[in-house]
Amino acid sequence: MRWYLDMDPGIDDAVALAVALTRGPVAGLTTVAGNVRGSQTFRNARRLLRAFGRSDLPVVAGAEKPLFHPLVTAPHIHGQSGLEGYALADDTDAANGNQGAPVSAWAWMADQLRQESAKEGSGKESIWVATGPLTNVARFLAGCADGDLDRRMAAITVMGGSLVGGNVTSAAEFNFYCDPDAADFVLASGWPVRVVGLDVTTRRGIAVADLPRLRGYGRVGEMLQGWLAFYAEAIARYDQTEDQVHLHDVLAVAAAAHPERFEWQSLPLAVVRDGERRGAVVRLSPTAARAPVDYAVGFDQEWFLEWFWQSLEGYQGTG
Ligand code: RIB
Ligand code: CA
Repeated sequence: MRWYLDMDPGIDDAVALAVALTRGPVAGLTTVAGNVRGSQTFRNARRLLRAFGRSDLPVVAGAEKPLFHPLVTAPHIHGQSGLEGYALADDTDAANGNQGAPVSAWAWMADQLRQESAKEGSGKESIWVATGPLTNVARFLAGCADGDLDRRMAAITVMGGSLVGGNVTSAAEFNFYCDPDAADFVLASGWPVRVVGLDVTTRRGIAVADLPRLRGYGRVGEMLQGWLAFYAEAIARYDQTEDQVHLHDVLAVAAAAHPERFEWQSLPLAVVRDGERRGAVVRLSPTAARAPVDYAVGFDQEWFLEWFWQSLEGYQGTG
């Protein structure tokens, strides 16, 4: 059973990566344009793995832009580098694209999941989390012939969407706004998908007052504290009303690892692809010709916070 992460680091992606690395055998990362441009999310992923002591893991660069829309990034929230608040040593060879990997992120995903399936008879044990725009995931699913990966694969847990109002527009959450066509395609694909949206990620985060506690988790804790302090201030300038820092992507990792700690509704959903409500999630009628997906509507908040802090214990004593 291995973990696959598709990310657009990004500050909360970085925190989610740090947590995932302590919680399961991460097979590798694919990166996608989102919070910052694609070359920067790739560079950030490489730098993060190096900072977290996991330069051994592969990073494969994915889509540089959404399927059809021009790229919209979020430097006002994550900084120009995507990881403002704690400077990481540059990974000089990070600029070299896929590090010679001859494949695209979606081809790499398909190959990995096919290997998992061959090895263990079914890829259902794999854990796959997508915490950025779903461009890579959509391209992967579009490339799957029915007999190819024949739905024996693991569910894909995505951070994205909202049925309770957006954080980019009043209707749209960032990941689904950035690439609404990819999001709609993934939700329509019939692949087992779990959606962790703002409905739950904005319900409980960590208190801003608790951020200094991160410094007790080694050098990695210092990094997380620096990034989240920047993130909290940035969001407070836009739409944060409480004194909480919403760990959107971390909650998606928690949901992928422990779906039993979450409450799910099985809903046929669509994503508005253009116009004023671009990126908005729409509940379809139960008779819609679209397979339902699992949509998170609640979780065990106390468990999550304990799980989050416990995850970081592995970094205590890191120099
Ligand atoms: O709306 C929150 C999501 O958009 C998170 O994944 C954050 O990293 C940004 O990508
Ligand atoms: Ca993200």
